[in-house]
Amino acid sequence: MTTPTMASSGPPTSRRLGEAPEADLLDPAERMSIDEIRALQLQRLRWTLRHAYENVPFYRQSFDAHGVHPDDCRELADVAKFPTTSKADLRDNYPFGMFAVPPDRIRRIHASSGTTGRPTVVGYTEQDLRNWSALVARSIRAAGGRAEHTVHVAYGYGLFTGGLGAHYGAETLGCTVIPVSGGMTPRQVQLINDFRPDIIMVTPSYMLTIIDEFEKQGLDPAASSLRIGIFGAEPWTEQMRTEIEERMDMHAVDIYGLSEVMGPGVSQECVESKDGLHIWEDHFYPEVVDPIDGVPLRDGAEGELLFTSLTKEALPIIRYHTRDLTRLLPGTARPGMRRMQKITGRSDDMIILRGVNLFPTQIEEIVLRTPGLAPHFQLVLSTQGRMDALTVRVESRPDCPPERRTAAAMELVTGVKETIGVSVQCEIVDPETLERSVGKLQRLKDLRTT
Ligand code: DLL
Repeated sequence: MTTPTMASSGPPTSRRLGEAPEADLLDPAERMSIDEIRALQLQRLRWTLRHAYENVPFYRQSFDAHGVHPDDCRELADVAKFPTTSKADLRDNYPFGMFAVPPDRIRRIHASSGTTGRPTVVGYTEQDLRNWSALVARSIRAAGGRAEHTVHVAYGYGLFTGGLGAHYGAETLGCTVIPVSGGMTPRQVQLINDFRPDIIMVTPSYMLTIIDEFEKQGLDPAASSLRIGIFGAEPWTEQMRTEIEERMDMHAVDIYGLSEVMGPGVSQECVESKDGLHIWEDHFYPEVVDPIDGVPLRDGAEGELLFTSLTKEALPIIRYHTRDLTRLLPGTARPGMRRMQKITGRSDDMIILRGVNLFPTQIEEIVLRTPGLAPHFQLVLSTQGRMDALTVRVESRPDCPPERRTAAAMELVTGVKETIGVSVQCEIVDPETLERSVGKLQRLKDLRTT
């Protein structure tokens, strides 16, 4: 792997994979100081609050009911006076009730299916699409991508924002884009071999499936042309980064976003630091609140992430509950913009097992540090007697000798008990037996009867 460097050398057309962009490639906002960003945010926040209040009946009613008016926002901290918004509010106003512009100004619709009920519908004006593409282009550049690179997009195309969001961002940066979408894994490998892309954009769980397919075909994944992976849409751990970087000989960086706030490209990890994701604060105002009582927390404290959009025309979103758990940290590679720590999980994904809170990412860390275990696992919740029980069903690695399996299972159970403080069961299954996802992975299987 190329060692990332802050400054780069060589002619402008050379392939510089995994390097920080030179200062002159950055957007003006990426070079702003904290004070400049804060001033821009306040001006844009005041515009957004007025735009939402004047054009979306939901926001007018909700602000009025809370006794607040957009004019009450005089400094950034005043945002906390305004009511929050949740997924249920978008569902209640299905399909277009949250839009703040007339239908003829909407250029694109996306929707997230959700597991039950009505989908959440989002819309974009022409300017919204331009901003989105510019932010994904900025994200790919922060990941080490440049105009001369070829990008293989294996996020799903369609109503999901992953495929088209990545696609237009890569085109805006000037890259060559291969719009593969998800699925047909043998063909993914063939296209990577034949078209020789430099960058792949895909969920980390599907990247693992593609790596396994390389090996199944007798090919060395590390010998492929891919040198940067931009992974998001689901939580993944540092241990998973190491697994992918070593097997693919690539830089693996994190991209975050959600459809209600825009799509991919709300925040992005910089390749030269790999220390959490810089939030593109010229377009989004983040807050972290206590997940139970909603009280705003200081930067550095872990809680639920809320976002307020600052430039969105079609769907301004005020203090949106993401349900994602993280903490806000000071900027590093982009000093003016705060970072968010890699997401621990969603509050919805938290398993409460006999009173102990547990996230799938905690299990992922332990699986990946246990020799003999593959990164493919499922969490099965069941009822045993009157108690809830959790079984970690995990594949052994193809090269794991059968006699190692029992020891690996015991190490995993002990690791969970020692780090999380709860007893689980472990079932080791053969390689290639658990179902693979081609998009977002659903790790939890809930078979409880009560
Ligand atoms: O998943 C947008 C996206 C596409 C992001 C491709 C990155 C790459 P939704 O389908 O609306 O949008 O799902 C949003 O996915 O609230 C998180 O819970 C989760 N998520 C997204 N990115 C990350 C990430 C897209 N990097 C929901 N790490 C969010 C952890 C993530 N979770």
